Amino acid sequence: MTPELHNSRFLRAARREPVDTTPVWIMRQAGRYLPEYRRVRDRVTFLDLCKRPELAAEVTLTAQQALGVDAAILFADLLPILEPMGFQLEYTAGGGPKILNPIRTLNDLRRVTACDLDELGFVYDTVRLVRKQLPGNIPLLGFAGAPFTLASYAIEGGGSRDFARTKRIMYACPELWAALLGRLADSIVGYLERQIEAGCQAVQIFDSWVGCLSPADYRRYALPYSQRVFARLPPHVPTIHFLTGNPALLELQREAGGSIIGLDWRMDLADAWQRVGHDVAMQGNLDPLVLQADLATLKAQTQAVLAGAGGRPGHIFNLGHGVLPETDPANVKALVAMVHEMGASRSNDGF
Ligand code: CP3
Repeated sequence: MTPELHNSRFLRAARREPVDTTPVWIMRQAGRYLPEYRRVRDRVTFLDLCKRPELAAEVTLTAQQALGVDAAILFADLLPILEPMGFQLEYTAGGGPKILNPIRTLNDLRRVTACDLDELGFVYDTVRLVRKQLPGNIPLLGFAGAPFTLASYAIEGGGSRDFARTKRIMYACPELWAALLGRLADSIVGYLERQIEAGCQAVQIFDSWVGCLSPADYRRYALPYSQRVFARLPPHVPTIHFLTGNPALLELQREAGGSIIGLDWRMDLADAWQRVGHDVAMQGNLDPLVLQADLATLKAQTQAVLAGAGGRPGHIFNLGHGVLPETDPANVKALVAMVHEMGASRSNDGF
């Protein structure tokens, strides 16, 4: 890695080193709220966009450039990793992702194969193309779903309100559950290793649906597999562990691993950092809907998040979940500028 990249604002903060101002990026920064994204997306289906490296690279790069954020995130999705494992994946217009052959029985598990990582070559090609064109001080983030979240898609076949099918299998067939999550964890590790080899400087694990579990169930049915992923990734690469929907899981999220905790907006950032300890970095955590409020509210709430971080080294500003399609891109740009401006006066206060 070049010294410029090593000393970039994002990677310094990821290592909890002092920075000139708070780094910021936005989950789902290359998405439908952005006209540059919609123009490309109008010409191809979502899966084609993911699978054509020159287009995926273009939307990755234009989002970083348009917003002025301190990191780019690879344009891809959580679910294509399931295709080489034997699942048929479809994105319906407006309805989100669908798995056409979800797992319902022990017998179904037999057709779940180990992931042939070469079949995801379009992702690594995108990483290489993006890295070639990104500014030298902007890291590229890779990502994957966590084992629980991927398993819930593989079982439900799509989104779910109560995750009833997932929990039925989890409670009734512990051996099926363990086999599926173990297989997913191994695939995720290989997939992220390949992204890192291709040129990602950090990775984020999204456990978007795990908030439906109680702490005891998280410890038993999700934590061991997330832990397996974090333990096997190269130790020098920063890892962001993001989960959402359940503040009671915070200490267990830390225990599962990751050098940066990705926090949703339901928690006060200062309290959360205190609870997990200041020897881990913290990412978050503005409510995405604040981007649809007036500018004075946006400014006050941005200031409140920065005040919660208190100028402590190791804060990476982000939303508490992905930016929504109805958001005005001007507000996202204004947020990035505000964080940079307000973060400069706070950074490293008294540390
Ligand atoms: O952050 C980025 O800009 C990188 C790209 C990215 C996408 N999906 C692109 C996308 C990332 C990191 C994801 C992660 C992802 N995908 C998650 C975890 C993040 C989270 O929000 O918790 C999840 C749960 C998915 C699965 C998924 N993909 C859903 C539920 C949907 C449909 C809902 C929606 O927002 O449309 C997608 C489709 C998707 N993934 C789109 C984008 C830009 C929209 C598709 C389109 O253009 O029609």
